[in-house]
Amino acid sequence: MAIHSVLRMGHPLLSQRATEVRDFDTVALNNLIRDMLDTMHAEDGVGLAAPQIGISSRVVVFGFDHNPRYRNAPAVPRTVLINPVIKPLGDAMEEAWEGCLSVPGMRGLVPRYKRIEYRGFDASGTPVVATAEGFHARVVQHECDHLDGILYPQRVCDFTRFGFISELADAGLLAMNTADDQN
Ligand code: NI
Repeated sequence: MAIHSVLRMGHPLLSQRATEVRDFDTVALNNLIRDMLDTMHAEDGVGLAAPQIGISSRVVVFGFDHNPRYRNAPAVPRTVLINPVIKPLGDAMEEAWEGCLSVPGMRGLVPRYKRIEYRGFDASGTPVVATAEGFHARVVQHECDHLDGILYPQRVCDFTRFGFISELADAGLLAMNTADDQN
């Protein structure tokens, strides 16, 4: 088990396009995925991208049954997704509050496609294809953005809806139970 520290916004690696994975089912790839899952679970993340632990590789993990940082969120299937490609299904967008382990203590209201199809590969190189909507679709779009060097604050449209969790909660803006959501 290896829990890594999560890089924070401002680290150059978080602004770079990550590199395509070419070799599947290798010791290095399997170790990376294990470390990402260990780190995500230790930090109560809903997802994590490889650049967040310092590896410029197009690998994301996401999924949970219940998450203390997003108490009202529905379960998202546990997924390892490599070299992902997202296709929006329709033009519909929706706004919801997002946070990120690389932007601790903050939340922002972010528009995302409501429905998507995503494709990629699992750790053994087997193709993965799925459709998602709502929070599931949001998590996939957020994590895949990391692979292109984009953090959610870059997607915020209204900066009166971006700030520290405690301030947003005190102002009654966060429609969630944030009493102990500090990330
Ligand atoms: Ni993130």
